[in-house]
Amino acid sequence: MRLDLPLMPLALLDALGADDLERAGTLVPYRLPAVLAAADLGIFQLRQAQLALDSARLPWSMRAIVRRDDPQMVGYINFHGPPGVNDIAAPEAAELGWTVFPTERRRGYATEAARGLMTWATAAHGVRRFISSTTPDNAASLRVHEKLGFTATGEIVEGELIFELRR
Ligand SMILES: CC(C)(COP(=O)(O)OP(=O)(O)OC[C@H]1O[C@@H](n2cnc3c(N)ncnc32)[C@H](O)[C@@H]1OP(=O)(O)O)[C@@H](O)C(=O)NCCC(=O)NCCS
Repeated sequence: MRLDLPLMPLALLDALGADDLERAGTLVPYRLPAVLAAADLGIFQLRQAQLALDSARLPWSMRAIVRRDDPQMVGYINFHGPPGVNDIAAPEAAELGWTVFPTERRRGYATEAARGLMTWATAAHGVRRFISSTTPDNAASLRVHEKLGFTATGEIVEGELIFELRR
């Protein structure tokens, strides 16, 4: 494993959601790349708001994808919430989503991070069904699904193809 997947606590999501990279940098033992300032703040704000309401969501919330050697955040990965929170309302399934920063792509990081996160969910909480979705034109994400063994369910939700993996 080349990566760690540390949870991003409320204070960190708060700083990132406010586009305050300097404050965020004081909260973590790894480097935050400048590209984070241009990242989609909405996802950090959404997860921050959810955690503020319910701290029990933390293990299912946002995690940094951190390269172990020369520790730096190379992306982020999260579940939409605990099992049952997913695009098709499958009660036992956990839905995940991934982003790797542009300069760090095509090194297998998204695939490795997703595998690691699903392994955690199975080992710690017995989750055996995973959901993910992407748009039909997202070749990189489609390939990540394929490498992980996800298959299309045939459903389309808000323009996104739904995939699932059972283990
Ligand atoms: C999707 C994303 C997370 C992939 O991250 P990554 O770390 O580069 O993924 P991996 O290296 O594990 O795998 C990417 C695979 O897609 C392939 N790929 C990348 N761009 C591609 C393209 N334009 N066409 C075809 N294949 C492509 C890579 O070659 C690789 O496959 P390979 O290992 O067989 O060579 C990243 O591109 C990203 O963050 N995109 C923007 C956000 C996003 O779309 N997130 C997903 C929303 S569902």
